[in-house]
Amino acid sequence: MIRANETLLVTGGAGFIGSNFVLSWVKAGGRVVNLDLLTYAGNALNLAPLEGDDRYTFVRGDICDAELVNSLLRRYQPRAIVHFAAESHVDRSIVAPDAFIRTNVQGTFVLLEQARLYRQELGEAYRAMFRFLHVSTDEVYGSLAADDPAFCETTPYAPNSPYSASKAGSNHLVRAYFHTYRLPVLTTNCSNNYGPYQFPEKLIPLMILNALEGKPLPVYGDGKNVRDWLYVEDHCAAIRAVLENGRPGETYNIGGSSERANIDVVTAICDLVDEMGPALGAAPRRGLITYVQDRPGHDRRYAMDASKVSGELGWRPVEAFESGLRKTVRWYLEHGEWVNSVRTGAYREWIEKNYAERAEYRQQGTGNRT
Ligand code: NAD
Ligand code: DAU
Repeated sequence: MIRANETLLVTGGAGFIGSNFVLSWVKAGGRVVNLDLLTYAGNALNLAPLEGDDRYTFVRGDICDAELVNSLLRRYQPRAIVHFAAESHVDRSIVAPDAFIRTNVQGTFVLLEQARLYRQELGEAYRAMFRFLHVSTDEVYGSLAADDPAFCETTPYAPNSPYSASKAGSNHLVRAYFHTYRLPVLTTNCSNNYGPYQFPEKLIPLMILNALEGKPLPVYGDGKNVRDWLYVEDHCAAIRAVLENGRPGETYNIGGSSERANIDVVTAICDLVDEMGPALGAAPRRGLITYVQDRPGHDRRYAMDASKVSGELGWRPVEAFESGLRKTVRWYLEHGEWVNSVRTGAYREWIEKNYAERAEYRQQGTGNRT
């Protein structure tokens, strides 16, 4: 019989949201074993503040490796798995979907199956305490029109990219393990996160760094696609609330109630970098905005109805978008070393590949489509 302890097995804890979660969990006194493959998106530097802390253990490895997952569960006997590991960038999923199916679908399956086997060996009390928390996305629900109500937990799935389809597939597997095996799973579907440690292939950090360096700011399509932004620490707080008190088998939608059109986010970043960064001659950075060819299958609008998680578990976001964005810009301005460490040759190759072939679409202010 295995006696689970307070340790969490976290997957993908060296990525953006995972590292914010691990840092906050350990800071609050918890223990974590972090299983992360350190793909291009994972960075052990994110967890440098935990170096030498015996509450934190790092294991470099693949969630698709069933033997490894099995051995970690037996060795560390966690009371929960918190599963962040994924291929997470929509544009990469369009260029090369294979890795998304492997990690997001196959990897989630391996974790579920090993969790099921492990839980069978737990004593009764520990079996009741065990949780498998799957971190997922609003993108499984597809795209909203301007006047549609926000996504709720019963909105039918309609994924439109290989990324969102792979996450939808993983969500279905998680659901099936509850209904078939009674594995006590929890699924969180969250809206767009922003904040420290986000890899600069995603909209907000990419725009901050390009603006800082006076490079073009590539806005896809007409710039009017809408995302519902949530500061990463608020997402981590929601995950903690669901882990503690969420009902097994349930899904919780998490969002910031902060819908913004992309162009408004980018102009806000320009103004903040003008204010907080070094001057770029006399020209305001808004002049760097360049409309480029749209993302294929680009979802128009996401919005989350988070009334279930706030009603049942009392979670609410505390950071306003404007103050969170200001903090985020400051973080990137103050962490040049981190920025340099992630902008490797492979990163530059990706940027070249993704943007070189996107024809310029319309320069801001001209109104002409080229
Ligand atoms: P990320 O890309 O920054 O990090 C992913 C992490 O997973 C990296 O550390 C990477 O090394 C690791 N990883 C990838 N493949 C692995 C494998 N096979 N085995 C072990 N580790 C592997 O991602 P993120 O933005 O932090 O997102 C984390 C999770 O949250 C994902 O599941 C994502 O779908 C979900 N999510 C993200 C957002 C967002 O806005 N970023 C919003 C909602 C949900
Ligand atoms: O909604 C949750 C999802 O948010 C997560 O599940 C994903 O893991 C995460 O990557 C994010 O997906 P998006 O595609 O919404 O995020 P991204 O930062 O790539 O793009 C945000 C918006 O900005 C989107 O409408 C596309 C647009 N965009 C993006 C980039 C990188 C641009 O206009 N220009 C760009 O260069």
